[in-house]
Amino acid sequence: MPADAAPVQATSFSGGGGRARHVAIIMDGNGRWATERGWPRLVGHRRGAERVKQVVRACPELGVDWLTIYAFSTENWKRSTEEVLGLMGIFARYIRREAEAMSAEGVRMRFIGGRERLDPKLQTLMAGIEARTAGNTRLNLTVAINYGGRDELARAATRLAGRIARGEIAAASEADLAACLDTAGHPDPDLVIRTSGEHRISNFLPFQAAYSEYEFTPVLWPDFTPAHLAEILGRTSQRQRRFGAA
Ligand code: IPE
Ligand code: IPE
Ligand code: MG
Repeated sequence: MPADAAPVQATSFSGGGGRARHVAIIMDGNGRWATERGWPRLVGHRRGAERVKQVVRACPELGVDWLTIYAFSTENWKRSTEEVLGLMGIFARYIRREAEAMSAEGVRMRFIGGRERLDPKLQTLMAGIEARTAGNTRLNLTVAINYGGRDELARAATRLAGRIARGEIAAASEADLAACLDTAGHPDPDLVIRTSGEHRISNFLPFQAAYSEYEFTPVLWPDFTPAHLAEILGRTSQRQRRFGAA
């Protein structure tokens, strides 16, 4: 993101009766879903990608304007070559196969995370779909690939150091930092959901989700349907968010 991108506005969604405009999901449990059935882990990842399609389609009618999904973390390179390459293939196929539908359905697709470590062909597909869907406004879909919050903050710190060195700013404000993140221009998530029963954020949006609501469900991602999302949204929309106020 350019260092001079517009500062990010925090979302309000405050008080009871609000709606989660921006939902972020840590899609976890694909491997366990497959292993439980005696299948290779990649079968779980393929089923997980099918679930993404369904959830993306359901978002507009559920009042979700922004959906940010965690597809591959900076730590996931520790997995076997077979699994990593299989996942990269799934990402490429998803972009190719869904390009037409996303264009027609008003989905703007973007990516966060470091790109230089990704296969150049995948990088080209990513840039292509971002350009092709840049004018869409019905749903903002952001996919985190090779994303890690600490890595993102380190890259942002480098950009900020440059701005300070050039004398553009004397010291970084929160807005200056937000504008240097991969998510510059995105509202903060209102709600972060993690599937599979784990209660941790695993390096996902640590700056942006500092004031988000969290919801943890035991459902494994390949079993997660739009009905689960609707149920969570209905249950959490009444939560009082105070943002530190009395
Ligand atoms: C989430 O499912 C998808 C990715 C991290 C790529 P996992 O692959 O982590 O599934 P489990 O947690 O091993 O079941
Ligand atoms: C988090 O899941 C990353 C994604 C969902 C892409 P992991 O399965 O990698 O997280 P840990 O290892 O359980 O913390
Ligand atoms: Mg996992």
